[in-house]
Amino acid sequence: MLAGKVVLLTGASRGIGRVIAQKLAEEQAIVVGVARSQHGLEALCQTIQDAGGKATGIAWDLSDIHLLSDLIAQVEAQVGAVDILINNAGLEIYRAFQDYSAAELQAVLNVNLLAAMELARLVLPGMIQRQSGHLVNIASNAAKKGHPFDSVYSASKAGLLMWGDAVRQELRHTDVAISTLCPGYVEQCGMLVDTGVPAPQLAGTSTPEAVAAAVIHAIQYNQAEIVINKDVVSAHITKLMFALCQFSPRLGDAIYRAIGIPQLNQRRIEHRRQSPRSPQPEFVKD
Ligand SMILES: NC(=O)c1ccc[n+]([C@@H]2O[C@H](COP(=O)([O-])OP(=O)(O)OC[C@H]3O[C@@H](n4cnc5c(N)ncnc54)[C@H](OP(=O)(O)O)[C@@H]3O)[C@@H](O)[C@H]2O)c1
Repeated sequence: MLAGKVVLLTGASRGIGRVIAQKLAEEQAIVVGVARSQHGLEALCQTIQDAGGKATGIAWDLSDIHLLSDLIAQVEAQVGAVDILINNAGLEIYRAFQDYSAAELQAVLNVNLLAAMELARLVLPGMIQRQSGHLVNIASNAAKKGHPFDSVYSASKAGLLMWGDAVRQELRHTDVAISTLCPGYVEQCGMLVDTGVPAPQLAGTSTPEAVAAAVIHAIQYNQAEIVINKDVVSAHITKLMFALCQFSPRLGDAIYRAIGIPQLNQRRIEHRRQSPRSPQPEFVKD
């Protein structure tokens, strides 16, 4: 099903995106990875090509959404029309809300939400015309219930989820599908691991491989939304918890405190303050 399809994958230079890219290439998709790091993309493409897959990288900063039509033009000139768009690039900055700068608000919303929307807006007409296409948005558990001290990220991910939900309904009579994935904390690599502060035990963690497998599953079975946790049972418990949070937000707040989510994000702010020289992924550029 994925063989020969052109997949535009953002955030491919490191973390979960790398693993998604490798999984897509194993399925014989033609992967076009986008991120700022030329070095990260080259390393990924080499790994995929060494394993017999097809991949190319385009180093691009997604934060200026007015330039994304140039990116799509470059992709189409290099490999052809985009069959599948995976909006995976993400940026997370922990702060008490009043401590964010205006530039930080803009940066998180641009990368996590507006770039995803703009890329979709640019590729959708072609997909509708060709009567085939799939958009996959990598949101987060933070899309379902706000994470304190990570409020802007939560807003961006909730926006991604609701935007995808609305457009999926608009596309009902077309052959274009939209899936949104909501992973919980991911171990082994990615933005959680990079903070150096582990997730609370009660929250459960999943793996980058589980997220990559969910991407493939979402495309193959046209899944509207997938919540990802350690295993199927934990994912169902997580969904039940979100249903409770809908029913009573304050009960949800208490559950989040019991799990340790606000405490985790406060520890991340503190950890960053104590080790200001530690890498700050959001500002990493080659
Ligand atoms: N890790 C988790 O626990 C977790 C949990 C739930 C959801 N998620 C979501 O999963 C996705 C991947 O997360 P991750 O953990 O793999 O994060 P990560 O390791 O921090 O990687 C983020 C990716 O986004 C790219 N990116 C960031 N800003 C960019 C920009 N301005 N222009 C182009 N690319 C940009 C980065 O590449 P460059 O720096 O090279 O530009 C990198 O490839 C994100 O959407 C995240 O919100 C992660």
